Amino acid sequence: MKRKPLLYTILFIELMVGLVLLYNFNYLVSAFKPKPLVTPEGVALSVEPTRPSIAVAQTQQAITQSLAAGDLSPAVLSVFAPLPAVANLPDQPLTDAMVNLGRMLFYEPRLSATQDMSCNTCHLLAQYGTDQLPVSIGHVGRPVTRNSPTVYNAAFQIAQFWDGRSPTVEEQAKVPILASGEMGMETLENVEVVLRSIPGYAQPFAEAFPVFEWRSYPVNR
Ligand code: HEC
Repeated sequence: MKRKPLLYTILFIELMVGLVLLYNFNYLVSAFKPKPLVTPEGVALSVEPTRPSIAVAQTQQAITQSLAAGDLSPAVLSVFAPLPAVANLPDQPLTDAMVNLGRMLFYEPRLSATQDMSCNTCHLLAQYGTDQLPVSIGHVGRPVTRNSPTVYNAAFQIAQFWDGRSPTVEEQAKVPILASGEMGMETLENVEVVLRSIPGYAQPFAEAFPVFEWRSYPVNR
């Protein structure tokens, strides 16, 4: 055999072997991994015992010690306390009329530019306050960049949004209405015009906010 064809044959065989190895890469890797230990009953045991981080271990130890001594501190206990029944504003007790109006607005598609999207489109109250999608679908069917967290109990959180960029639910509520990718309204003034044009809102607003003046009220001024 001449040298050139021999070289080509060797190269071809090497290429084939390489491709076969590449194709079976995952299988080969798993074949060399240590096998999980299995008890006689067939229950798999992890080879490496899982070690909790030092911080977690210390917290667990502190809680175990204070429980044993019967002196769980009020600070620790407050973390486990039930949530308050009502999320009142500091300077404004919540009334039934406010809750009713809030419910109407939450389901109001006319708060969106295309009049087809309400808060409940992405935070379905019947689905634990989420749309259960990898990312929410916004204005004119375009996906937004994040998924919708639940709105259940959101008022008790220390901040809103995944990055905490909004301090309160009152501040937060303006964002999706005006966000171009979400409900897409142009300005807050437009939102007011729309709400004022709907006769069905006159009474609920008057009952919820008897001394209502646009933007003089503590919520969303
Ligand atoms: C197009 C879908 C969509 C609509 C419509 C929408 N949201 Fe959201 N909402 C989201 C997404 C996505 C996030 C998370 C965004 C982020 O973290 O940047 C979010 C975040 C929130 C949060 C923060 C929750 C938390 O745990 O941080 C609240 C509260 C909320 N929305 C309430 C509302 C209200 C009230 C309305 C109606 C005025 C509304 N949303 C309309 C998709 C939507």
